[in-house]
Amino acid sequence: MQGVLFDLDGVITDTAKFHFKAWSRLAKEKLGVVLPASFESDLKGISRIDSMNRILKFAKMADKYSAAEVDAMAQYKNDLYLKEIGKLTQADILPGIENLLDELAANKVKLSVASASKNAPFILEKLGLRQQFDAIADPAKVAHGKPAPDIFLEAAAKINADPTQCVGIEDAKAGVQAIKAAGAIAVGVGNPSDLAEADTVVSSTEELTYSVLALAFQK
Ligand code: G6P
Ligand code: MG
Repeated sequence: MQGVLFDLDGVITDTAKFHFKAWSRLAKEKLGVVLPASFESDLKGISRIDSMNRILKFAKMADKYSAAEVDAMAQYKNDLYLKEIGKLTQADILPGIENLLDELAANKVKLSVASASKNAPFILEKLGLRQQFDAIADPAKVAHGKPAPDIFLEAAAKINADPTQCVGIEDAKAGVQAIKAAGAIAVGVGNPSDLAEADTVVSSTEELTYSVLALAFQK
């Protein structure tokens, strides 16, 4: 195992609730609609602009706004979201993750972040984890979002690792599909029925240890 490629939201920290809060406020204030609770999980792993377009479609306003207006709304959502994630601290790291990062570093495994979020460097800084990672793939530099493999390929390239020699960790179905498409071993965190395509599924981040990842890799 040369490297581990980490999704961020839902694996390192739980930001889905902050995304949902910000999207809900935008939808209510600018579009006059209330988002159903299902949007919190439906938007996991979906890029900012794709999320915006899904919300416009839900509001039946897909063709109502110009590209510039849509961008401005997505920017407004991000301003709301930044206020929320500005409050993150080390206490918001999901259980087991700090231990896992230490174990991987002790075993000389390179660590790379493969998140769709343009806010990943800021979030890692707030969590006090920025220095633990060898690289962060930039989602602005990849052509296709998850389930396409692009961000995982970029994350592996940034640590000079062969994707087939890496384990990817994801909490979203589209993310697991992206890991598999990149040729890496997929470890899913969450419900096995949602993440059936993963090579190994654990129910919580607490179960993510070096030996679980090494076993998944050898499978
Ligand atoms: C992650 C989240 C998505 C979010 C995306 C882009 O994948 O799960 O909900 O839309 O990142 O995040 P950003 O911080 O760039 O708006
Ligand atoms: Mg995620």
